[in-house]
Amino acid sequence: MDKIKIKGGKSLEGKIYISGAKNAALPLICASLLTDETVTLTNMPMLSDIKAMNALLEQLGTKIDEFDDFVDGHSTKTYSYRTKEATSLTAPYDYVRKMRASYYVLGPLLARYGKCELSLPGGCAIGARPMDIHLNSLEQMGANIEIKNGYIYASVEKRLKGAHIIFPLVSVGATCNILMAAVLAEGRTILENAAKEPEISDLAHLLNKMGAKIDGIGTSILTIEGVDKLNGATHKVIADRIEAGSYAVAAAITRGCIELVNALPFTLKRPLHILRDMGVKITENGNSITIDARGCTLIGKDIMTEPFPGFPTDLQAQFLALMLTADGASMVTETIFENRFMHVPELLRMGANINVHGHASAIVRGVKRLSGAQVMATDLRASFALILAGLVAEGETIVNRVYHLDRGYERLEEKLRGVGADIERIKESDEE
Ligand code: UD1
Repeated sequence: MDKIKIKGGKSLEGKIYISGAKNAALPLICASLLTDETVTLTNMPMLSDIKAMNALLEQLGTKIDEFDDFVDGHSTKTYSYRTKEATSLTAPYDYVRKMRASYYVLGPLLARYGKCELSLPGGCAIGARPMDIHLNSLEQMGANIEIKNGYIYASVEKRLKGAHIIFPLVSVGATCNILMAAVLAEGRTILENAAKEPEISDLAHLLNKMGAKIDGIGTSILTIEGVDKLNGATHKVIADRIEAGSYAVAAAITRGCIELVNALPFTLKRPLHILRDMGVKITENGNSITIDARGCTLIGKDIMTEPFPGFPTDLQAQFLALMLTADGASMVTETIFENRFMHVPELLRMGANINVHGHASAIVRGVKRLSGAQVMATDLRASFALILAGLVAEGETIVNRVYHLDRGYERLEEKLRGVGADIERIKESDEE
């Protein structure tokens, strides 16, 4: 397994191009299953999760073409997807096990073909993450759901029927899946208490380009008039707000100055507000955000994760690491996932002062210095928190299990080296 080696202590300065959002791209890819025409996605990030989703779609019978592209000043990928006729309606265990978001094939396949078999994803490092809301909602739309041998067997006799669904809690995954099911259902579907994350709006915009009729985009009530057929479309993937927020913290934690190019300020209001409150200077200019922490003494602030537009759980670990370098104490409260402080024991090995209370909160006290260590992370965002700590720690930090980072951070070492970080990947083959 590859590792990342960082020598800490450099103040980072320069520009970082923000890639297309992984969490938008994954449901967008699955939306292509709703039509027999071609769906083309530009500004696609080059990530292992995208490759995994592509492999799953190929297994279902989708023809995928890949092109090198150049969008808004940086090189990227364009993919076109065509599922003339699905050759399989099963998402097997081996695919779903590697990537939970495989469950996004459920809504589209059930809507277009009236059938889907999906391996149940099970829990992961950050929590149990059940799919009950996805399944209950599909049942309300007339689907038969059976769980057997670790698989969900979903079917519907003729066509899914529109329904008035009130989600019991805000779920990004359930909102996307049911939205994709509803666009081809018979009649009107109303989704109340829907998640409002920008990635969901991005999906709804693509679906409307494909001929869907979705109203209320960006709000917690989505109204969908089902249509008989959808057509192909071309769509540019929205910028990754979590990648942008992660590099904003890289600027702040190293007391540097980074311009985030092609970032979308409206998707990052809460995290940018926290950074400003801590004492970081932030300038927004169209699709560029400059994070300037040069010479700043930062003050610790409390954060609490919430559904969008609240503070994102996917930036909790990174901000927790930042609070270690601020004056005073900060309370970090996690309300979305029940096991999302797995980075804390690793940060403690680097000299952090953090007390975790139950599963929900942590008190973080600023420390004079962190020191480099061998660390390993259990999930994607926690891994980036360790990279951040390594960037300011004295000496050398080795972050193990880099495959987590490759799932969600495109060209991570290249981007960080470009702003002056001393960081390199140690390939497994470089070791004895
Ligand atoms: C998505 C994101 C993930 C992010 C999360 C919250 C993708 C691929 N992943 O995950 O990066 O951290 O949103 O912003 O976009 N829940 C249930 N039953 C369900 C569905 C969810 O109890 O049927 C619970 C979950 O366990 C969790 C909470 O609802 O506690 C929110 O989860 P959800 O918004 O669904 O997260 P994901 O879509 O899995």
